[in-house]
Amino acid sequence: MSQNLIENRVVVKSPGRINLIGEHIDYNGGYVLPAAINLKVTLKIQKTDNTICTVSSEQGGTLSFDINQPLKISATQWENYILGVVDGLKKKRPGRLDGFDCDISSELPIGAGISSSAALECGLAKGLNSLFDLELEDIELIEISRIAEHNFVGTKCGVMDQFAVTMGQFNKLILLNCESLEHHLIDADFSPYKIILLNTNVSHNLATSEYNNRRVECEQALKIIQKKHPQFSFLADVPETVIESLKEKFPGKVFQRALYVSRENTRTLEAAALIQKGKVKEFGALMYQTHLGLSKKYEVSCSELDFLVDLTQNLPQVVGSRMMGGGFGGCTINLVKNDFVNAFTHLAEEQYQKEFGKVLSPVEVATSNGVEILYS
Ligand code: GLA
Repeated sequence: MSQNLIENRVVVKSPGRINLIGEHIDYNGGYVLPAAINLKVTLKIQKTDNTICTVSSEQGGTLSFDINQPLKISATQWENYILGVVDGLKKKRPGRLDGFDCDISSELPIGAGISSSAALECGLAKGLNSLFDLELEDIELIEISRIAEHNFVGTKCGVMDQFAVTMGQFNKLILLNCESLEHHLIDADFSPYKIILLNTNVSHNLATSEYNNRRVECEQALKIIQKKHPQFSFLADVPETVIESLKEKFPGKVFQRALYVSRENTRTLEAAALIQKGKVKEFGALMYQTHLGLSKKYEVSCSELDFLVDLTQNLPQVVGSRMMGGGFGGCTINLVKNDFVNAFTHLAEEQYQKEFGKVLSPVEVATSNGVEILYS
């Protein structure tokens, strides 16, 4: 291939992510433990000789816009991931982008809680950064992608997904402080257990509105706490005892939301220490506690997810199980003994079909590197 053609084209492989523990903690300034995975979105991006950008997605159709026109929110949701990122890049580097064609294909199921959206955003951001020599750092691309999600997609997400998708490393988990963005890489060694996702194939439409509501409830909790304890800047940092002492002050369900956040942050640090000591079973026990909190206190689970977690309770070969991601559908994440994986996925598929009349999609995942740019 000629040098010129190589310079005009990039191929980007952008992974989804799992999160072992630390759910609904990123926007509360605490610790999460995600990893990038081996299921990816592929973006083939090529410069054109005009100002038109044409983006085609296998699943979504084709979007076309002029790079020099102001970009507006689209009624077609997948287009907002693209428009939001391009808008962010244009604002950071005015006049530096030009027309391009982008072809997207994906191995990542959509709405499954494994961040097909962050994979798309961060893959596009990094791909265009490289193609047009924008010289933006990874951390700036992560922020542009997160803001695209806020302003164009409408989910007021934290930084976990974009960070994991961009900074992930093969065989590593990222213990990330979502406030300072300080992070440590931890060996992702769960042997003799494998990570199995059970995709419910449901995505309840409460997902975005309830996600944003939880964020508002957490902000309310923090304000109430700060009146008496102004030293706390983030809800995740507030000890359980402080929250208990103010119980009467919180309206509605704000108390139980705050309690969940405080406990989950503590649990995540404990979990990271356990995994570093090879204590997989003890780690798994914390995953069950997280699920209980998400289901009963934070109320972001659903009957399909609860059913799948319950199913594992009496299986000694499954040491941990919980819903993963924003909730209201998507996947459970399970730690399953090597030699029980097939039997487990068959059992879960059968029982799920019986209970809900729906197809379950089990997926075995491994960790992988974050967004990679290939020239080919
Ligand atoms: C979604 C959001 C993340 C995070 C998780 C819940 O994946 O995009 O920022 O809040 O939910 O942990």
